[in-house]
Amino acid sequence: MSLQLEPQINLFKKANPFIATVLKNERLTPTADKAKRPKKEGEADVHRIVLSVPHEQYPYLIGQSAGVIPPGDDPKKVEKGSPDTGYTVRLYSISSPTYSFGMTKNTLEFIIKRDNVYDEEGNILYKGVCSNYLCDLKTGDKVTLTGPSGKKFLLPKAEFDGDIYFLATGTGIAPFFGMSEELLKHKHFPFSGTITLIYGAPYSDEIVLRDYFLSLEKEFPQFKFIEAVSREQKNSFDGGKMYISHRVKEIAQEIKTSLQKQSKFYICGGPKGMERAVIEEIMKAINTDLTYEDFKKKYESSDQLFVETY
Ligand code: FAD
Ligand code: A2P
Repeated sequence: MSLQLEPQINLFKKANPFIATVLKNERLTPTADKAKRPKKEGEADVHRIVLSVPHEQYPYLIGQSAGVIPPGDDPKKVEKGSPDTGYTVRLYSISSPTYSFGMTKNTLEFIIKRDNVYDEEGNILYKGVCSNYLCDLKTGDKVTLTGPSGKKFLLPKAEFDGDIYFLATGTGIAPFFGMSEELLKHKHFPFSGTITLIYGAPYSDEIVLRDYFLSLEKEFPQFKFIEAVSREQKNSFDGGKMYISHRVKEIAQEIKTSLQKQSKFYICGGPKGMERAVIEEIMKAINTDLTYEDFKKKYESSDQLFVETY
């Protein structure tokens, strides 16, 4: 099956959105009473949401995002008397491979975390509008989409034999779910390199889809899965929290060799700015004289570094 190479963008906008139907909404993290997280840190509620989206109408490439318009009026806009009182579009990484899981070309998936702020006792102080709307969806509900958006955070467009590093924190795992599937199982282009997925989360039960990634590791010798569980594991460098950047430091020698083979680094997730520590470890691995900004610019323009943090 040949792959449409160029990303299509903004086919659907707020004025002419695409209406998708929910096929499935599955919670991936344990409920609050079963979770490892202390109550005072609130709840970590992450969902896998599958939408019916025919590819011929909404052609996306894995790595792109879709916009979601939550229903209803934004009270702040109503108060201001804005002419358009609808909510602004929220972006979400598409987590299904380009032609859907099973190459059916008819679904689009998200991995969504409720974005709430909690007080010291674990009660909700503020609720994220769109993430809660999405996590509460039921089968058969309609969802208003814009997009697709993004034309940079994409997989190689031709045969590739270098090493690929996927570096995720939290819901930053979303694009790497579909990308791993696409590279290893859909094989649109010959891929003879390796994939190292480094996935960071606060607690081990928030590493979602672990069984899927472990099954890939079993099936494909070129796929490696590494966890960085910040509040349960200690890093071996200063005994502090284990972040994805510490995992990068642990494999610095391998990264140095990989970079000579044009390896690619994809970094996704939050908090915004977390990419810096990761990129600085890559820089240390190759002992570069470049400044952080010049290194980032150079490797982004040679399609070896892709950053989507939020
Ligand atoms: P909002 O309503 O926009 O609120 C934002 C935050 O402010 C919330 O934490 C809310 O609790 C808090 N808040 C609300 N009111 C107040 C107040 N008065 N004072 C203080 N705080 C307040 N997210 C995912 O879950 N999965 C993804 O795959 C994903 N991909 C993304 C890809 C891109 C390219 C980008 C840019 C973002 C992505 N996001 C993803 C984040 C997503 O777009 C939203 O930002 C997120 O879901 C929060 O939106 P919301 O409408 O729920 O929260
Ligand atoms: P922590 O919050 O323990 O400091 P989530 O989005 O689900 O909260 O997960 C984000 C993960 O990224 C957490 O494990 C968080 O650790 C971790 N993290 C926070 N800041 C950084 C950073 N600068 N670099 C790498 N990981 C980070």
